[in-house]
Amino acid sequence: MKNIVILTGAGISAESGIRTFRDSDGLWEEYRIEDVATYEAWQRNQDLVIDFYNQRRRQLVDVKPNAAHIALCRLEAKYNVHIITQNVDDLHERAGSKNILHLHGELKKVRSTVDDKLIYDLKGWELKKGDVCEKGSQLRPHIVWFGEEVPLIQTAGELSSTADIFIIIGTSLNVYPAAGLLNFVPTLTPKYLIDPNAKDNYYKPNLTVIKEKAGIAVPKLVEDLLNDDE
Ligand code: APR
Repeated sequence: MKNIVILTGAGISAESGIRTFRDSDGLWEEYRIEDVATYEAWQRNQDLVIDFYNQRRRQLVDVKPNAAHIALCRLEAKYNVHIITQNVDDLHERAGSKNILHLHGELKKVRSTVDDKLIYDLKGWELKKGDVCEKGSQLRPHIVWFGEEVPLIQTAGELSSTADIFIIIGTSLNVYPAAGLLNFVPTLTPKYLIDPNAKDNYYKPNLTVIKEKAGIAVPKLVEDLLNDDE
């Protein structure tokens, strides 16, 4: 079976109603990264950080996977599919995808602030001050904040280097090291970039840019790949 590796960003969840970060109505238009998405922010104002992620976790209750998430699952009938997502929502899981690697953490998980191996599924959507790990320390969102290590980047790089087909969906490729994964993909591997606002001057060998919303373009691309008789 051929390997398909898929790198997704906030754009794949946009049509589910989850805001992206850098579009005109993006999250970073309303919040400053340094106030809610860094370890220093956590040290300075835990309540604000806890509330920021509670609001995003609360929204997960009201949204569902869209046609793009669902179409990606269909690829698993014919290919070895690995999804590397920058997203912290659980829409790929809820759509039924199996091999998902969350580069930037997961909204529905929390972890100890004294032992980062202690990770827990959060019951409900609200993390509270005073919610502590088994060692008695305050629990924090299980999110990779700006400036923090990306523990799974090595695994993601290895996966990308095995891709027979590499698909990028809904990411501005602004944030490293995630954006650098493309450099691990073999030159001859066919690559697809799906983004309605994809930059025209974005070039990589064997890259097909599809300037279309994920909800339209992903099901079409999946159909083509399932009908591909190679
Ligand atoms: N379909 C496909 N792509 C879309 C759609 C859509 N319906 N709507 C928007 N997009 C595209 C935008 O054009 C943009 O290129 O999705 C991309 C979203 O880019 P960002 O908002 O920068 O999100 P992302 O690339 O995932 O950000 C990476 O930055 O803030 C950090 O940790 C955060 O994981 C995030 C990382």
